[in-house]
Amino acid sequence: MSPLRLAIVSCVFASHALLANSHDDAQPQGSCDAHALHQGGEGCGCASATRKATTNANSEQSTTSHQSTHEWPPKGAAWVPAGEFFFGAEKSPYPKDGEGPVVKAKIATPLWVDATEATNQQFSEFVKATGYVTTAEREGWSFVFEPFLSPTTSEKETQAVQQTPWWVQVHGASWRHPEGSDSDIEAVVKPDDEAPPRQKSSTAQKQHAFGTPRVLTFPSWEGARWKHPAVHVSFYDAEAYCKWRGMRLPTEVEWEYAARGGLTNRTFPWGNRHDDLHKRANTFDGSRAFPLYIERTEDANAPPADGFDGSAPVASYPPNGFGLFDMSGNVWEWSVAVDKSTGQTSAHQAVLRGGSFMCWHEHCFRYRVSARLAMEKDTGNYHMGVRCVATARPGEQASATQ
Ligand SMILES: *[C@@H]1O[C@H](CO)[C@@H](O)[C@H](O)[C@H]1NC(C)=O
Repeated sequence: MSPLRLAIVSCVFASHALLANSHDDAQPQGSCDAHALHQGGEGCGCASATRKATTNANSEQSTTSHQSTHEWPPKGAAWVPAGEFFFGAEKSPYPKDGEGPVVKAKIATPLWVDATEATNQQFSEFVKATGYVTTAEREGWSFVFEPFLSPTTSEKETQAVQQTPWWVQVHGASWRHPEGSDSDIEAVVKPDDEAPPRQKSSTAQKQHAFGTPRVLTFPSWEGARWKHPAVHVSFYDAEAYCKWRGMRLPTEVEWEYAARGGLTNRTFPWGNRHDDLHKRANTFDGSRAFPLYIERTEDANAPPADGFDGSAPVASYPPNGFGLFDMSGNVWEWSVAVDKSTGQTSAHQAVLRGGSFMCWHEHCFRYRVSARLAMEKDTGNYHMGVRCVATARPGEQASATQ
């Protein structure tokens, strides 16, 4: 197989980079080395590696012949009233992300917004009904955050993104097999009586391109992951899923309005507090530089403060003012980009919103409501999921909420 060439978004440059072990000698652009990381370099690799746009992206896989009889109002959706708000933020740690300038935006018609990110349960119902094949399944691989790989997979998979080597290309990784073919959303991963589930793996001492050996952990899943958000979801997958439900992806204006939960000019869905973040959102809450220490302080066996190393079951933290859960953290959510100067949605650009369990205040401070990250549509990694919306029907009222 010819060397795979992948693009990464270093969060500063949308640069093309090679897999670390590729033999191609083209040089990546942008910089995101360990030094930059320790300097808090603008969130290198927070959002991760992206697939290079491929020629056969499954943008048009039809699900129309399998339309469900849409439940209305959409099951699990919360009522979000019409209103106006200030969209964006003037100040951002990442000026190139385009959070500013702030513009006044109007949501003219109330929305139904899924109260949670799509779960594995919901996504599996979609797949069962439609036979849909996700981008990751078609391509045969996806990127996984290395610390979650089994030692076997970690040994086997040698290709990582050069500038963000914690993103490993894992064959067989998909929504159904989040950490590769030896993982499964249905598997019951039982802690071994002999060994604590958080023990260091055999690869813990591996030297990595970006620094000192890290403490590696296994997922702390207990039982099947039906309530966890579906991950490895590309924009196309997200679109198809929402369509099947009689819904659609939010524009980023809608997404941000919903995320703000009725508050004005606040940083997070709950307000401005950051000191008790671990009670409010599933983010990276290690006390040391990402990604060298994975949600750990001094004690490698201590649980992370927010309770989860990777994704959390949806709605594990309190909802915002509109009854929406995990608008900050857990997994990234797809939205349709909006051009601020014209107010028009973009047919080409997709934007991730909400940050993920990998976001940290010094590394990827993107679990703020105004944060946005442009992403290639065929990318769907270990921390990317979907939440759908629908425009309320004429005359419909909040009381229709089940
Ligand atoms: C919110 O921000 C906008 C734009 O920055 C400003 O014009 C408005 O006065 C602010 N509103 C409040 C209540 O702080």
